Amino acid sequence: MAGDITQSPAKAIIVNLFEGVTSPGGGTGAVDKALGGGISALIAEGEIKGKSGEVTVVHSLGRIASPRVLVAGLGKQDKFSLKEIRNLMGTALRRARAAGATSAATIVHGAGIAGLDAEACAQAIAEGALLGTYRFRRYKYAGADGNNDENSGEIETLTIVEQDKSKLTALRRGVARGTIMAQAANHTRDMANEPANALPPSALAERATKLAADAGLQCEVLNDGQLRQMGMGALLSVGIGSAQPPRFIIMKYRGDPKSKKTLGLLGKGITFDSGGISIKPAAGMEAMKGDMSGGAAVISTMWAIGKLKPTINVTCLVPTAENMPSGSATRPGDVVTAMNGKTIEVINTDAEGRLILADAICYANKEGLSPIIDVATLTGAMQVALGPAATGFMATEDSLAEAITAAGEASGEMMWRFPLLSDYKEGLKSNVADIKNTGNRFGGAISAAEFLRFFVEETPWVHIDMAGTDESDKEKGVYVKGSTGIPTRTLINVVLGMAGK
Ligand code: BES
Ligand code: MN
Ligand code: ZN
Repeated sequence: MAGDITQSPAKAIIVNLFEGVTSPGGGTGAVDKALGGGISALIAEGEIKGKSGEVTVVHSLGRIASPRVLVAGLGKQDKFSLKEIRNLMGTALRRARAAGATSAATIVHGAGIAGLDAEACAQAIAEGALLGTYRFRRYKYAGADGNNDENSGEIETLTIVEQDKSKLTALRRGVARGTIMAQAANHTRDMANEPANALPPSALAERATKLAADAGLQCEVLNDGQLRQMGMGALLSVGIGSAQPPRFIIMKYRGDPKSKKTLGLLGKGITFDSGGISIKPAAGMEAMKGDMSGGAAVISTMWAIGKLKPTINVTCLVPTAENMPSGSATRPGDVVTAMNGKTIEVINTDAEGRLILADAICYANKEGLSPIIDVATLTGAMQVALGPAATGFMATEDSLAEAITAAGEASGEMMWRFPLLSDYKEGLKSNVADIKNTGNRFGGAISAAEFLRFFVEETPWVHIDMAGTDESDKEKGVYVKGSTGIPTRTLINVVLGMAGK
């Protein structure tokens, strides 16, 4: 809304400060004045430094309508970006919520001396607010306790206050887009955080069906009988040890009916990865409820695409199964046949993601989807290589790689390119089948990608290995403990970029 932030009746107002600034200007300056110089006094005291991530609560003691002012540090001005805005909104709103605030108002961070585009700033504010205040509380007692963020109520409204009326249209556009981007990432989080007993393949398919209906998309779910008819032996072999049968989710968006081209977005949908007969160690196995994060990310991306309506055709494919050991499970040494007739010797039943993706890639090729982008929590090797700060990917074309990197920069989710190395195909040679599902131990992320490339053949292709970034073990900026929602916002940016929008 247009107006003066010092007049806002919101239960918390959020202003900002760059590191090194001693007398604040703009909205922060106006609030400082209204508080009788209370903010500049704390700067002089050294309590407020303006460092990145810093949030100081200043109680207004009746001097203004709002009971508290949160001064958020913007860090050094030369390092400032939209990412900083998203993170500060997350951190500040969690603080306001822990203090019991049910409403908040903010100035347009970044549009002042930093001079960023107002619409982009508004988008970042909306994204940061919705991502940072996300909670997964389905299985928790939800009693309100204003002094404890875990149990506190919600911040119901956030108002962006801007003096300049002419900026309002742009700000509203930014907020609308940011809201969809963040809601999409939060849909991914909702699916990934759900325990595996509550989200078997059939339930993941139901989520996709509901999200598709909400966004006006076509959605079809193939059951195990249909998968058998189609010859998806690789996907079936992964699910065969579980009491919960596999599914294959297909979502379609047709935003460019005149074009014959359709982008393929493929996601790994392992609802729980025990490793199967090649069972994983007990420690940390619970994290494998999130082994469908890639699938969740492409499903949520489709939802956002349905809402944003870019001029492009996109088809999303999610093979989904539960990888369990049992008397009916696939054994090491078994040979299975993918949909394109190629045979695979299963050396390690824990290398199951590549098996289900093989069938999805065959299906994508049969449908003529191009390019193909697959998204998967595929290898521990990628997690070891990059850790939680960047997501690795491989690409067959430089132009696709550049599109991924740029989309990641725009979303604040860093994407880092890895090589495809055909040398490692050697390690995937099988004595009994066309290929085996594991290669040499070293360069495991690249071997896995080479396995997928065997099915992709000549189609332009990107493989995103998000093992390592799907989950956060701490609360920081836009992230809270649990699923990060990565790389949902990057994927949406990729699609919007391809549509030229
Ligand atoms: N889902 C895992 C990969 C993973 C590891 C994701 C850690 C997230 C965090 C995948 O199915 C797997 O088990 N990969 C094996 C492959 C190996 C058997 C060749 C791995 O990386 O150890
Ligand atoms: Mn596995
Ligand atoms: Zn897995």
